[in-house]
Amino acid sequence: MNENNQKFKNDKFIVEKEGSANFFLHSVDKNNIPSKSMVVFYNKKMEINRDVTNLAIMAYNKLFNQNKLVIVDSMAASGIGSIRMLKECKNVKKIYINDINPMAIDLIKKNIQINNLKDVESLIKISKKSANLLFSELALMKQDEKPDIISIDPFGTPNLYIDSAFKAIKKKHSLICITATDTPVLFGIRKKACLRKYMSKPLHTDYCKEIGARILLYFISRIANINNLGIHPLLTFYSNHFIRIIALVFKNKERIFENIENYGYIFHCNNCGYRTSFKGNILQIPHICMSCEEDQNLDLAGPLWLGKIHKEDFLHYLIELNKYSDFKNKNKIEKILSFTLEEINMPISYYNIHKLCEELTLQSVPKMDLIIKKIKEKGYLASRTHFDFISIKTNMEIKELKRLLSSL
Ligand SMILES: C[S@@+](CC[C@H](N)C(=O)[O-])C[C@H]1O[C@@H](n2cnc3c(N)ncnc32)[C@H](O)[C@@H]1O
Repeated sequence: MNENNQKFKNDKFIVEKEGSANFFLHSVDKNNIPSKSMVVFYNKKMEINRDVTNLAIMAYNKLFNQNKLVIVDSMAASGIGSIRMLKECKNVKKIYINDINPMAIDLIKKNIQINNLKDVESLIKISKKSANLLFSELALMKQDEKPDIISIDPFGTPNLYIDSAFKAIKKKHSLICITATDTPVLFGIRKKACLRKYMSKPLHTDYCKEIGARILLYFISRIANINNLGIHPLLTFYSNHFIRIIALVFKNKERIFENIENYGYIFHCNNCGYRTSFKGNILQIPHICMSCEEDQNLDLAGPLWLGKIHKEDFLHYLIELNKYSDFKNKNKIEKILSFTLEEINMPISYYNIHKLCEELTLQSVPKMDLIIKKIKEKGYLASRTHFDFISIKTNMEIKELKRLLSSL
């Protein structure tokens, strides 16, 4: 028994509640800031991630795959996500609950016991493996026994697990749910790490959260492509310093090729804030801003995903399901999902209104609804964005937006 195991052998437990599940946590973990150093990881702030994942699984089961589901929770920690899936999603054929940490496995077993899951115990398969090993074992199974859904929820980047997950998952109408918490990397604070981990250049701009999400989508899609697969994003969800991608997986060469058309770059002028996107490979990088015509201030992000990041009917269904949920985060989820619906057909990027007002030395910040109304009155598109509640998406150019803000 290693030192850590010895230390926590007689540890006391506390009981917590989340969604429909009760679960034990090591009491020493109770007041820790969520981190790798916990005996078994748990982060209350990620409850919304698990809520939305369950809504997404139910919506997927209704809209795209009505069969009983084989699910893999590849990094389960306390098992809270899996237990909630079993209790809240119902139509489960089999669930693999896996974690590499032996202490997590002990806790998962304890947590299954206190949730009265006796009648579904035969559906549960617990393992203590590296996620990649589990995926490579699943990859050898017959097509109809392979997982319909794979969830990847690592510490930091999911990049090391995506290739083997695509090898393991069913090739038709399956669902991939991938979290990244390395937001400083994806948002361009750690630019070199992003180039290394995601093969893409980030930009630390006002709309870096959207750029980061699109880099992650691009990366997942490219790894799907080399496995002869493609992804169709259903929901791209940012909250509390994590990004969760929920996407359908398909195998169809023509559609994969259409996806490749979604890859491209964003140009951003550091002088005037003008931004534009460019599909495909750039052979000659422009240096002069198309708006202010300043030389040498034009930067770029990419390659990244320029296509749609959510699917509209899926969002409608999530919103409907959320109405009947009793999640603690119900109102927050409703707000986020309504903004995802608003932003679905809007141009890439958004403008931080507070920052623009400060730059313009305005006395006060006009109400978001008023700004959107005024932009629309001038014939442009405008919406809120779930990436940032103090920002607006619009196809009005930044120069005109500044003029409009000054006039309000
Ligand atoms: C962020 S936590 C997962 C949280 C969990 N999904 C939840 O909802 O509470 C990451 C977990 O991955 C586990 N882990 C780290 N590397 C792993 C690997 N290579 N394979 C499987 N599990 C791993 C850790 O032990 C940890 O429990």
